[in-house]
Order: sequence, then structure tokens, then C-alpha cells
Amino acid sequence: MEKLLIKGPTNLKGEVTINGAKNAAIAILPATLLINGICTIENVPNISDVKISCKILSALGAKITWIDNNTLTIDTTNITTSNAPLDLTSKFRASYYLIGSMLGRKKSIQVGMPGGCNLGPRPIDQHIKGFELLGAKVDVSQGKIKATADKLVGTSIYMDIVSVGATINVMLASVLAEGTTTIDNAAKEPHIVDVANFLNTMGADIRGAGTDMIKINGVKELRGNATYSIVPDQIEAGTFMLAAVASHGDILIKNCITKHLESLTAKIIEMGGKVEDNGDSIRVWCNSRPSKANIKTLPYPGFPTDLQPQIGVVLSIANGNSTINESIWESRFQYTNELNKMGAKITAQGKNAFFEGVDKLVGAPVYSSDLRAGAALIIAGIIAEGQTEIYNLDHIDRGYEKIEEKFRKLGADIKRVSE
Ligand code: EPZ
Repeated sequence: MEKLLIKGPTNLKGEVTINGAKNAAIAILPATLLINGICTIENVPNISDVKISCKILSALGAKITWIDNNTLTIDTTNITTSNAPLDLTSKFRASYYLIGSMLGRKKSIQVGMPGGCNLGPRPIDQHIKGFELLGAKVDVSQGKIKATADKLVGTSIYMDIVSVGATINVMLASVLAEGTTTIDNAAKEPHIVDVANFLNTMGADIRGAGTDMIKINGVKELRGNATYSIVPDQIEAGTFMLAAVASHGDILIKNCITKHLESLTAKIIEMGGKVEDNGDSIRVWCNSRPSKANIKTLPYPGFPTDLQPQIGVVLSIANGNSTINESIWESRFQYTNELNKMGAKITAQGKNAFFEGVDKLVGAPVYSSDLRAGAALIIAGIIAEGQTEIYNLDHIDRGYEKIEEKFRKLGADIKRVSE
């Protein structure tokens, strides 16, 4: 067991370079199963979710070679089985992408029910609806999902709820289907566009990703034999932007697409932070106590739920009272209990949390409940007076590469020690 030891307060200053997007990488890796050939993927974040994905792909017959810390080559010419290892696939959420890609490639797949962060119920009814409309038979029982199809025929699919995972999964299943598929009320996140761009680079015919209507013209085969670089992680970039505001620091965030961060930038300026947008990098600084603000999380381009815990830390020490309405997940306020141990005054009820801004946080032992809560607690530890210990680091390591090293380079007194 490891823990992070942080001594604060510190004003973070300096530069940080952002890795490739986790939520693009863990969709693009299973998407390689659609390719009867070889491809190379660059800017892959070296995180535990990616490592699990690689283990699962290898178990299915893929041959994976790491060229360097963030580049890998995948040969999916010989996929030898449709039974993904249940122990691995039940470890994380994105294993459900194996269904879309293996239905497309082999017309058959069995995976464990997806795991992932504990944010409340995480249904997959929209994924299943899409697969069945394309002609698949899907059976969910005993903690497993089995999907088969004689053939997949393109059709029109309307998403009852805007869903990142269902949009990507139906896109995967449609790439090699006969005819044209349209996905209406599709999610528009940057990582959805990235998956579509990857598939088109490998020979697919997908139009409209990033809008609420995506059209996929089925093709016979994906050739591969191409290289693709994963989009920068807008959530990692936003995490460091909020760390700059919370710590009254000054950080230049490099290798990001500032267009993907417009809702956050607007909020930071509203709270009195300063932003210098350079297109592929963004400088954020804050010399005064942030003002109160009200946040409502929404599908892209609204304020992202994956930055909700991180801005919660800023609101906990803001000047005045603030609110957050979490419209995406049932239970994404567990981190507020941990912040209250550090002197925050937050009341969470259902989908709403009420923040009474306090002058400062004080270090304490705290527990990360999920990936983004863990990142929020690191920011809290850096701005708190005294020592903070953060436990349950496996959550954090799922989605952030070398996070304590990045914060240390910005001046934080942070180290990972074994319990
Ligand atoms: C993706 O989860 C991300 N995970 C999440 O990021 C992110 O919070 C979420 O999108 C929203 O942006 C990955 O990409 C691996 P959804 P996903 O389907 O696809 C409901 C992180 O921190 N829904 O967009 O599972 C669902 O319950 C993680 O990086 C259905 O009702 O989210 C939720 O209320 C945490 N039926 C809403 O839709 C379905 O079939 C949005 O979920 C699917 C979803």
C-alpha cells in the first residue's frame, strides 16, 4: 500500500506538459481490434487503465510492442478468441468498448460487467440498445455480457440520453457493418472526435463526430498500416489550471487544446483568475482569493463532470458561498467528506453541494474515492496548512501519469511513500 505525503501551503509555479487523453486512449486501444493489420499509436498516457487494456488485447491475440514510454505498435491480424479475461474486464469501465469492436470484427464477444469509478449506478442500456438495433443479440447475466450477431446492418439510432460510452461503442460496432448508421443525440466530447479520427485514419468512413449527429458508412475492412497521435487530455489540463487558481500560483500548461477547455476558462475568469490562451498551451494565474461561483456539470461543451471535484476545492476556499449541481452522476460528492476533514464547510445533498468558503484548509489523512476525487485531494493537500496523507492511490494512478512528479516540478512538497 502506498500513500502520498504532502506539506503545504505552496503557490505552484512553472510549466507542466499534458499527456494524451485517458478517455480517448482506453477507447482507441480496443478499437484496434477492428483492424486486420498493424498500427502505431503515439501520445499514449502511461497509466494503469492503459496497461490493463494492453493485457486484455494481448489475451485476445493482439501483439503489442512499446516503442517508448508513450508510443506503442499493435498487431491485431490474429485475434484468436472472443472471450476476454473476466478478471481484467471487470476491473474498469472501458472494457465495454470490447463489445463494439469485437462485434464488428468477430461478431462475438464475452466480457465481465464493466467496473470503474464508484459514481453511482452506471447503466449500459443505451449501448445494448444500439447493438440490438444493428442486429446483435446481447445477454447480460451472472456478471457477464455476451454479444453475438450473424451480421450487423446499418440503421438509425437515437440516444435516449447523451452518453460518451454509448456513442463511441455504437460507432465501433457500425464501422464494419453493412450500410449506413446514424447516431442521433450523440455525445460531442473531444475524445469521441479522437476515436473517429483514429478509425478514419485506419480506413473507416465516419462523419459528424463532435456534433450530435454522427454518420458511419460501413466499410469492408480497416487496413491499419498507419500512425495516430492521441489528443491531449483536457481533463488533466483542467486539473492543473484549477491547481493554479487554488494555490494562488502561476502555471503554463503545455500540449493542450484550449478550445476543449472553454467552459472552464470562462469559470476561472468569472472567479477572478487570469488566463492567457496560446492555442496549444494556456497560462493560468491567480493573485487573489477566488470569488464564489455556481457550477452545473453538463455534457460537452458544458462544464465537465470530470473537473467537478477539482473545482470543488477552489470553491471550498473561495470568497463567499457557492453551489455545484452534478447533473451527470448520482454520487460524485464523496470527496466533500474528505475536504470537510480538512476544515472545509460543504453540505452535499443528492445532486447538489453547498460550499461556505473558508479562509484556509488544514492538512489531514484523507481517502480518495475515485480518480478525479484523488486529483482534487492532491490540490487540497498542496494548499492546506500542514501535512496531508492521501490513501487509495490506485484510483489516481488509473488516470494520471507521474502526477506527483508533475506537481513536485511546480514546487509542491509531495512524495509517494509505502505504508
Ligand atoms: C465517460 O463515462 C468517462 N469515462 C467518464 O470519465 C465521464 O465522467 C463520463 O464519460 C461523462 O463525461 C470514460 O470515458 C472511460 P456516459 P461513461 O455514458 O461513458 C447515463 C473519468 O473520471 N447512461 O457519458 O460511462 C450515465 O449513468 C471518468 O475519467 C445511461 O443512463 O459516461 C450517466 O448519468 C469518470 N445509460 C450519463 O448517462 C447508458 O447506457 C453519462 O454517462 C450509458 C450512460
